[in-house]
Amino acid sequence: MHRKYTMVLGAAIAAGMMFHMPALAAGNADKPIVWWNRQPSNSSTGELDMDALTWNDKTYYVGFDAGQGAELQGQMVADYISDHVDTIDRNGDGIIGYVLAIGDIGHNDSIARTRGIRKALGTGVEADGEIDPSPAQTNVDGSASVVQDGEIGGLIVRELASHEMKNASGATWDAATAGSTIGTWTASFGDLIDVIVSNNDGMGMAMFHAWSKEEGVPTFGYDANSDAVAAIADGYAGTISQHADVQAYLTLRVLRNALDGVDPDTGIGTPDEAGNVLSEDDFYYDEKSRSYYALNQAVTPENYKDFLDSTAVYTPVTHQLSEDAFPVKDIWLDIYNASDNFLSTTYKPLLQSYDDLLNLNVTYVDGDGQTESYLTNRLGNPNQFDAYAINMVKTDNATSYTALLG
Ligand code: BGC
Ligand code: CA
Repeated sequence: MHRKYTMVLGAAIAAGMMFHMPALAAGNADKPIVWWNRQPSNSSTGELDMDALTWNDKTYYVGFDAGQGAELQGQMVADYISDHVDTIDRNGDGIIGYVLAIGDIGHNDSIARTRGIRKALGTGVEADGEIDPSPAQTNVDGSASVVQDGEIGGLIVRELASHEMKNASGATWDAATAGSTIGTWTASFGDLIDVIVSNNDGMGMAMFHAWSKEEGVPTFGYDANSDAVAAIADGYAGTISQHADVQAYLTLRVLRNALDGVDPDTGIGTPDEAGNVLSEDDFYYDEKSRSYYALNQAVTPENYKDFLDSTAVYTPVTHQLSEDAFPVKDIWLDIYNASDNFLSTTYKPLLQSYDDLLNLNVTYVDGDGQTESYLTNRLGNPNQFDAYAINMVKTDNATSYTALLG
């Protein structure tokens, strides 16, 4: 039983009001919840917030395997460098210099990507048994303590600079900040930059347009948004698909199943009656953390044509549910930042396709990327909804939402 409910009950009994208790909010605390894209966790230590992940027996998280994706991104960059070792050092100083755009120093996915790059390029320094993901700020002379020089094909690899791309009002993963930061960096050490790496495509594309496209400097991102994939034809070096088509489906599907009271695996690992089903290559489920993780794929000049439309639904799960057997339900769903390229240009259109297929009437609430209360204020009447899909501004803030549910 939820603590608040117990307290209300306790107080009511103490006051001898047993039979006049005000009706409790219509069981909102027992309704299905899916945390998505931002896994409830401590933004300093990364430790999962198990209270939030097990809030009730219909609670889930949907995201992707951050470690596997980070390894792919790191490998993609390392392979590119080894394949171009004879031509990549633009100023011939024997150092392959790269800069790194960091999304959000308190977000597990961002941290994993920073670690993945440093690991693959040999520039990581261990702290507490793991690679330190802290921004190096500027490290043109190689003296920063959070990174070290690596080596590939006889050349030194140096993280010249890395920075959290947060704007003045506090929004993270900020593409505009990345676009202006590359201007600052290139103004002072442009000829040292041989490679650009970004924790996501929003920031990567901002840097590509601001500088590297023109200069022909390879730029790597993450997410496989349509515009980034298309830019591979113009020299964007590569990106990673985090299988958003699978994640968006899972986000809504876990709620559908919980609302129908069916086996949670329905239409996921086990075909539903319409024939929707995913395979082991698409995702895995970790029961302990109640988390579904989609698997990533590298998108390179070799295969990018298969990824041009990031909003295309995933064929194995495109079968319409019948409205008789699966009546329409009302879902509250928020997106923490309307300006986030991945969430707004890839994930949301996918959700909007799947909501029809699954007969879910979704109320979409778009945030500004920095104000949690802007979102929670829009959950003022949780009774109106059958289930909730939550994308937090800050991964520590799960209770700001669950507190509203009783
Ligand atoms: C995406 C980023 C996005 C972030 C927002 C990540 O999974 O890769 O592009 O900005 O989620 O939470
Ligand atoms: Ca160089």
